[in-house]
Amino acid sequence: MPQVKVKNKSTLAQRIDTALNTVGWILIPDYEPDLEGAALGEAYRALCEEVGVPIGHDRAGTIIWDIKSRDAGSDGNKVITYSEHNHEADLHTDSQYSEYPEDYFGLLTLHKARCGGGESYLLSLEDLLRELSSTAAGREAIEVLQTTNYPFIVPNVFRKKTGDEPEFNFGPILRKGEIRFRIDTFEKALTINPDLCTPRQLSAFNLLKKYVRSSPSMKTFVLEDRDLIFINNKTMLHGRGSFSDADRHLLRIRMNKTR
Ligand SMILES: [Fe+2]
Repeated sequence: MPQVKVKNKSTLAQRIDTALNTVGWILIPDYEPDLEGAALGEAYRALCEEVGVPIGHDRAGTIIWDIKSRDAGSDGNKVITYSEHNHEADLHTDSQYSEYPEDYFGLLTLHKARCGGGESYLLSLEDLLRELSSTAAGREAIEVLQTTNYPFIVPNVFRKKTGDEPEFNFGPILRKGEIRFRIDTFEKALTINPDLCTPRQLSAFNLLKKYVRSSPSMKTFVLEDRDLIFINNKTMLHGRGSFSDADRHLLRIRMNKTR
């Protein structure tokens, strides 16, 4: 699909663009305090159109995605996304199961969790690689993660086909300056078919997982109402604490870079 270059970005869009391509994220507090409902959504979407090229979340091409917990039921076979439940979300990148995960995404908090949970976690690939490459085992793991294909199971809501047949996508976890990573979709894929990975791949993954879960560089903070955060989905891992407030509500827009 042809992508249109935005010639004159607003100052805010330029700030976001610079941050996404340097530190990997930016927080804009108190976004558009005078707008509500559809007008707020339109302003948010217009800003994202300056930052990149918004892309759809589902088969219908929905650009603005509501992040609200819903009853996931007790069906352990269903693969659901972190945007659909309220449990702890391990550090991950979005759309790691897709052929081309989005470059960036924005999250606008309409209603933060009032229960004290739902805090945000961020960890940069730069910090993770620095920590991992400090040991010989870590450097060996990086080599395997860069040069072999790992399976990721596609969540039900994003499957291209209908029916119960699991769908997988394969790719390296690390590419030049980029990461795609989510623990449960990888481990679910292996539960279905343990032959999808070699023992060497599995031990590299497990070492990466250990570093991700114990990194001293992870940042933790709380998104307030009207906080708008943009995250580079290729250079940052993000996560979220569990929460019980059923009214927690965020709006996500995914974007690719304007090329
Ligand atoms: Fe996510």
